[in-house]
Amino acid sequence: MNRKATTMKDQRIVIFDTTLRDGEQCPGASMNMREKLEVARQLARLRVDVIEAGFPISSEGDFHAVHTIAREIKGPVIAGLARCVPADIDRAAAAIKPAGRRGRIHVFLATSKIHREHKLKKAQDEILRLAVEGVRRARSHVRDVEFSPEDGSRTEPDFLVQVCRAVVGAGATTVNIPDTVGWSVPEQFGALISHLYHAVPEFQSGQAVISVHCHNDLGLAVANSLAAIRAGARQIECTVNGIGERAGNASLEEVVMALQTRRDYYPGLRCGVETREILKSSRLVARMSGLMVQRNKAIVGENAFAHSSGIHQDGVLKKRETYEIMDPVDVGWGGTELPLTKHSGRAAVAARLRQLGFALRDDDLAAVFTRFKQIGDKKKFVYDDDLAALVEGRITEVQETWSLVYLHVTSGNETVPTATVRLRHANRSKTAQLVQDASIGDGPVDAALRAIDRLTGTHGKLMEYSLRAVSQGMDALGEVTAKVDFGDGVLVTGRDASTDVIEASARAYLNAVNRHLGARKCRRCAVPQVSK
Ligand code: KIV
Ligand code: ZN
Repeated sequence: MNRKATTMKDQRIVIFDTTLRDGEQCPGASMNMREKLEVARQLARLRVDVIEAGFPISSEGDFHAVHTIAREIKGPVIAGLARCVPADIDRAAAAIKPAGRRGRIHVFLATSKIHREHKLKKAQDEILRLAVEGVRRARSHVRDVEFSPEDGSRTEPDFLVQVCRAVVGAGATTVNIPDTVGWSVPEQFGALISHLYHAVPEFQSGQAVISVHCHNDLGLAVANSLAAIRAGARQIECTVNGIGERAGNASLEEVVMALQTRRDYYPGLRCGVETREILKSSRLVARMSGLMVQRNKAIVGENAFAHSSGIHQDGVLKKRETYEIMDPVDVGWGGTELPLTKHSGRAAVAARLRQLGFALRDDDLAAVFTRFKQIGDKKKFVYDDDLAALVEGRITEVQETWSLVYLHVTSGNETVPTATVRLRHANRSKTAQLVQDASIGDGPVDAALRAIDRLTGTHGKLMEYSLRAVSQGMDALGEVTAKVDFGDGVLVTGRDASTDVIEASARAYLNAVNRHLGARKCRRCAVPQVSK
């Protein structure tokens, strides 16, 4: 990435990815360490400029994730979020330290009247003072400091100019204007950015970059981000699949492809994203976060390049551009694939995994290969998507307190659905580790989950359940994602895949149970959660 701040004359748009911070804040999207690291690796392959890896003060887990990503991921700048509080800033600095000169501290403080008066109970001069002190403290740790006036779009424009000038004076190299509550509309937001650009000489001289961070409450996050670019913004904060707080953030793939596809309207503007990695990134984030992408989602939805009307199909066959404004290959769709079979050896599987971008440790490869052989016995062809699901299943594996040993289900239109389940406990003596019980339920899945609850002593409420075919054919793997509330209001995501959908459901639920038990253990030693 070009470390010198960009000016409006510069044509480089910095892509700041916040999938692992704002995206992960989305209820039910929380990821464990390995999942975050895998997403970060993919973001590096996608060639984003900045990865916001987390909010280090918020928990031990977040600190550890940011620290590990800063150590492991080469290429992008690694940012850690901090409130304008010394302890937060110092903690963020410690977390990003392994990234060295690629480390960024992102400090934020609310500036709008409603936040000042009701949330912070502070006057404008106090806000200015705290913002400057926060930026100075961050600068004492790193050269690369970003400041965000939270709820910037609803802040009085003249006060916002004062804030921008003050923080740039204190050493901020990027000033990010968040549309925190997704209130803006494109013309107005563009005008605000233009006003700031012209009122702050350091933005014109290139001493600091204007960034924007748009939320999607009115479905305008991408439109607002693009309007801001036309007005002088040179960094866009966004997330893969647009995941994020409430309705989400600006979607990375939409912003990037809008700039590329409409080069005529954004002449010369470019970003460094490797667009052919977009689909893979989308699928990985969907699996890791448990937030599935709707079929008609632009760029990455199943229907994004599917033409169903005869007239359209005819047109595309005659000339693709009649109905396609982008080449699907440019975002990672298409390509012919030679599926593997049960006869494929370990070397062939390892080679295909490398092609798919997975760098697995030997123990992970061994586990994936064992699962591959099991699946290969049940289905004729193992496709790339099946393999990716196996790898991602391995990544999402957690310390298995309980594992499934045996499942037997009876069901039918005249039968009371009944499940018999046998589980193994990881830490009990040999004689006590196997437990077995049976339960009836509304259906076979319900019966199986009830039996698991009886055996594990948990009482999960299934809040969301989705089943999708991972690849093509009648024998496709069925992948189940279950979001479960174990009574504490936290949504825990469990996931697994099998050619048998009842087994996949039981395994996904058990994955959630194990995560819940693991998190409970972790919470006992974690620092308290903070709110903004
Ligand atoms: O939406 C927001 O205001 C944020 C800030 C922390 C940048 O996420
Ligand atoms: Zn946000």
